[in-house]
Amino acid sequence: MTDKEIAPAAPTCTLVIFGATGDLTRRLLLPALRNLHRDGLLPEDFALVGIASRELGDDGFRDHLRQGMKEFGGGNGPGDMDWFLTRVRYLAGKFEAPETYEALTRMLDAGRNVLFYLATPPSQFAVIAGRLGEAGLLTEGDQAWRRLIIEKPFGHDLPSAIALNEKILGVAREEQVFRIDHYLGKETVQNILVFRFANGFVEPLWNRNHIDHVQITVAETVGVGQRGKFYDATGALRDMVPNHLFQLLTLIAMEPPSCFAADATRSEKAKVLDAARAFGANDARRNVVRAQYGTGTINGEEVVPYRQAPHVPPESTTETFVAMKLAIDNWRWAGVPFYLRTGKALARRRTEITIQFKQAPLALFRDTPIDRLPFNDLTLHIQPDEGVTLGFGVKIPGPAVKIDGVGMKFRYEDAFQSKASTGYETLIYDCMTGDASLFQRADTIEAGWRLMQPVLDDWKQQEERALPVYRAGSSGPREADELLTRDGRSWRPIGGSADARP
Ligand code: BG6
Repeated sequence: MTDKEIAPAAPTCTLVIFGATGDLTRRLLLPALRNLHRDGLLPEDFALVGIASRELGDDGFRDHLRQGMKEFGGGNGPGDMDWFLTRVRYLAGKFEAPETYEALTRMLDAGRNVLFYLATPPSQFAVIAGRLGEAGLLTEGDQAWRRLIIEKPFGHDLPSAIALNEKILGVAREEQVFRIDHYLGKETVQNILVFRFANGFVEPLWNRNHIDHVQITVAETVGVGQRGKFYDATGALRDMVPNHLFQLLTLIAMEPPSCFAADATRSEKAKVLDAARAFGANDARRNVVRAQYGTGTINGEEVVPYRQAPHVPPESTTETFVAMKLAIDNWRWAGVPFYLRTGKALARRRTEITIQFKQAPLALFRDTPIDRLPFNDLTLHIQPDEGVTLGFGVKIPGPAVKIDGVGMKFRYEDAFQSKASTGYETLIYDCMTGDASLFQRADTIEAGWRLMQPVLDDWKQQEERALPVYRAGSSGPREADELLTRDGRSWRPIGGSADARP
């Protein structure tokens, strides 16, 4: 995480993408690389090697990329396409075949820095890492580094995540491994630490003395779309919680690191998950809600219920919504609940974190016609409508002392003219410069799964139990509301205007 305004171009390197003809490469990686080039952050002798099973040849691959660039943009428009296309080569091969790696070794100069990007289905991660290791392609020379980028999902439960870490760390050092969570590429997510630790007024309030509870919402309007096969085997919890939601949770709850360096930051994040109270079977049932979307409308369009979506079995019990209450048993957060929720086919696309402060200690205005003091809350709008809102009470002008809740809002788009970006620019650049701050370490990944494993185990045992169904286009199931109402609290509304007060 460096200041890109004054950042130098990344060092000379070759990027090798496994899964180079896939969606991720065309939709996100290529536009991100073009944006990095636009901003002068790629080295002049940058090279790209694409690997996939399709027989394409260098020219066929260039055509494929040219199409992708037209469709998904990035950079300065058509002008810089040639810059890329002259730096691209292609290798057709099977990921599990040793010959692929022999051919790759012949293509790579032993003294050159190489970044291997595994943009493949997760079932291929261990296979490719193992083969790269056997071929000696992860062995670093005195001058040249070798690094491995791994996409999510990293495992599908605790044992599989541990096994994958073991396999990868058997062929590479932790410092060579960059596990991506694209949420950490978002400016608003990176801003959480700046907001907390670069503003003197925030930190003194950021604890159990002043905070009542925290809400983290990642609401999506999209349904499962064409991803039924992947999604039905995954579900909302595995897809979103141990990765994206826990990244937001740890950034909000962590202690200030001793310095702004990768390991110092990542160690503090890991401690948050270690301090989160483990679920027993009963707590899991009481504190975690899952549900699946049914019929409904979103933006005036009829939604196909989850069970009728392509590649989803009609009797599927996979959850498309999950909400939970977490406790973090440490000095700062004892007694402060963290409520998390995420779901598909909800009323609005909205990712936000609300810090709900405690009310003023005394109803000083009790003799005036006021029945309720307004909430003081701080909401970090991660996306869309990126910004920060502070909610507080003001006197309504007039002879009586009447109070109303208002919001003071900072919007990124008002303050900065930012250039288009995919969120992957920072992540790729940081891999090239060796800054692992925005990547997940093995222990954090395992801590996330460790926390969720009792929930997964409990769900497995109660597969026959009816799964609540929520209306597509709603705010989720009634059971999620009850998670808060039984504590005398309520969720911030998902629908309505971005400034809606609870
Ligand atoms: C992905 C999940 O990791 O994140 C998707 O697999 C989800 O199911 C997506 O839609 C959400 O990302 P974003 O950046 O759109 O919030």
